[in-house]
Amino acid sequence: MHTRITELFGITHPIIQGGMHFVGRAELAAAVSSAGGLGIITALTQKTPERLRAEVARCRSMTDQPFGVNLTFLPAVTPPDYAGFVQAIIDDGIPIVETAGNNPQQWLPALKAAGIKVIHKCTSVRHALKAQRIGCDAVSVDGFECGGHPGEDDVPNMILLPRAAEELTIPFVASGGMADGRSLVAALALGADGINMGTRFIATKEAPVHDNVKQAIVAATELDTRLIMRPLRNTERVLNNDAVQRLLDKERTLGADLRFDDIFGEVAGVYPRVMEDGDLDAGAWSCGMVIGLIHDIPTCQDLIERTMAEAEQIIRERLGRLL
Ligand SMILES: Cc1cc2nc3c(=O)[nH]c(=O)nc-3n(C[C@H](O)[C@H](O)[C@H](O)COP(=O)(O)O)c2cc1C
Repeated sequence: MHTRITELFGITHPIIQGGMHFVGRAELAAAVSSAGGLGIITALTQKTPERLRAEVARCRSMTDQPFGVNLTFLPAVTPPDYAGFVQAIIDDGIPIVETAGNNPQQWLPALKAAGIKVIHKCTSVRHALKAQRIGCDAVSVDGFECGGHPGEDDVPNMILLPRAAEELTIPFVASGGMADGRSLVAALALGADGINMGTRFIATKEAPVHDNVKQAIVAATELDTRLIMRPLRNTERVLNNDAVQRLLDKERTLGADLRFDDIFGEVAGVYPRVMEDGDLDAGAWSCGMVIGLIHDIPTCQDLIERTMAEAEQIIRERLGRLL
């Protein structure tokens, strides 16, 4: 299958593994890229540019295929060393960067001058158009279903993707709720050039996270996510658990008076405890509604191969027969 995304990134299949905090490490990125998709290492999980360089070297030792790095620009009192991360990415010859969060404009000249392709993750058409205007090569359009931060507009992919297709001229991938060949065909039909998967890739053999996390994803249904931090306009879709219920109680009680400090205990420092120690109730952690479609823990190779086979079968047989 050839799309504008496979051409732009020089990959075999139009499937990207989105950056994920404490999940997007060398093992997962290498497995996805070796299987013909685009694996992505999450820079901020590595804490320092030096550690990112080491992780990139580790990934290179595991695959000879291209992989990318995710740079998430968060509002922070003490921001991470973004300049250092960008320099490490350039020095290491990373061909593709996935940006997310705040506007990446400040970093584009340096990345573009180094010949790096930039795909920016957006949750609205207006942000996607902005990304196109400032020179991003592609965008990843994240619908309301997505795990992580869906933004504040609440537009699901059934509407968001065709709206993006109406407005954009650069290639884009559908992100949020993508799990299999059915998702891929639907995304292509709605105008996307491929898919980006987050939650689905956590429940794979190579994802370097505790088995409890994978089992929880397989066990959960599409009814088991919650939206937190809405009053702070920093909405995040997470897997429901006791900590999330505590947090939502505080949101209800404090209303407009809610401050980040009030929920610090439920959201700070959670990822290593969940992803490394398998303490699922340590706090709130991102998870998409797509968990309802995740029933097993395949290798990345199996997942990508069967996604492509199922997509081809749907296009040739189920859809072809309708004509
Ligand atoms: C556990 C987890 C951690 C994530 N961390 C990040 C991150 O650090 N940066 C980022 O840009 N996106 C992050 N995301 C979002 C994913 O890259 C992707 O856009 C999203 O998961 C797509 O929705 P899906 O889960 O329905 O596939 C995270 C998602 C999950 C599930």
